[in-house]
Amino acid sequence: MQSLPSTLIDRFQRRVDYVRLSVTDRCDFRCVYCMAEEMTFVPKAQVLTLEEHFQVAQAFTELGVRKIRLTGGEPLIRTDILTLVKRLGQLPTLDQLVLTTNGSQLQRMAGQLRDYGVKRINISLDSLQPRRFRQLTRHGNLDQVLAGIETAIAKGFERIKINAVVLKGRNEDEVLDLVDFACRRGIDIAFIEEMPLGHIVEHNRVLSFCSSQQLRDIIGKRYIMHALGEPEGNAGPARYYSLPGTTTRLGFISPHSENFCHLCNRVRVTAEGRLLLCLGNEHSVDLRGVLRAPGYSLASLKRTIVEAMAIKPERHHFDNAGEPQIVRFMNMTGG
Ligand code: GTP
Ligand code: 5AD
Ligand code: SF4
Repeated sequence: MQSLPSTLIDRFQRRVDYVRLSVTDRCDFRCVYCMAEEMTFVPKAQVLTLEEHFQVAQAFTELGVRKIRLTGGEPLIRTDILTLVKRLGQLPTLDQLVLTTNGSQLQRMAGQLRDYGVKRINISLDSLQPRRFRQLTRHGNLDQVLAGIETAIAKGFERIKINAVVLKGRNEDEVLDLVDFACRRGIDIAFIEEMPLGHIVEHNRVLSFCSSQQLRDIIGKRYIMHALGEPEGNAGPARYYSLPGTTTRLGFISPHSENFCHLCNRVRVTAEGRLLLCLGNEHSVDLRGVLRAPGYSLASLKRTIVEAMAIKPERHHFDNAGEPQIVRFMNMTGG
């Protein structure tokens, strides 16, 4: 049998060294851009066990992956998630174990996450107004999330980043307040253009579209912004700016207005163990079938992953027509 490579390279010579693991599709929030009000979640038996997630992570690190991001749904509501975090933190060649969360559980979990080796945390925060926060998340409690953010800051993670999805007519008037919030705390913030994933009914995605350029125009009136240039290596979708006089990095994730696919360094694994080669395409490979096959071995999982690189698409095509080209909701992939 052919020997396995030590790095993952796709057809376009992009090195994949970053995996986003969605450990659950469930969430305690129902953000209007991410989910429908009534959602059907994957039956538990179809979701990977924590041991299976660990096997996947181990396979990827043995194939040269240096960064793993845990996502959801909301990763911190998965029962016993800290046991997985602890094991991942001990993987010898993993440089960066990071997490994207809605912040609802951070007040009680931030300390252990830090102790078990999580380096950075990204926290969603679309509004600083309690009623509006509730409307955007449908179930979220702003005070609880703010307390979670303060706890995380106090625990001394390497970096904390706020993510805000901006929708015209709903929260674009809070952009400066959110930047001020981040600057006062010396944490980073990224503004995200909404992506057409899943069918939503609450707002019209075309009418609520707010481009990163519009946001830069608003922020530029109060702050001096210095572009930090293309990220080093293949560092991902956000374009960052420094704000002189602060330690905050200000990012813009612009899947519509500034395509970043040529820099893509990542793949995703859904909670059901589907290896998704691109957020904006359906190309995928079933890892759960491999994990649950009789005679499973780590080598067979690694071989499946290596072969999957051949179908990683060149780019996504979000055409901004409002209709989802991808029927899966964002909670399947964790962004
Ligand atoms: P890094 O790990 O530092 O690159 O963080 P990140 O900003 O990519 O991760 P986060 O989980 O905070 O996601 C922020 C937003 O970026 C979410 O809306 C994601 O869906 C989006 N995003 C992340 N990776 C990709 C990608 O490959 N393609 C697209 N279109 N969007 C992405
Ligand atoms: N478009 C853009 N970003 C989204 N997120 C969830 N759904 C969407 C969408 N349709 C964001 C969340 C979170 C990150 C992981 O993805 O706000 O910060
Ligand atoms: Fe939950 Fe995150 Fe989706 Fe909001 S964006 S519903 S917090 S998974």
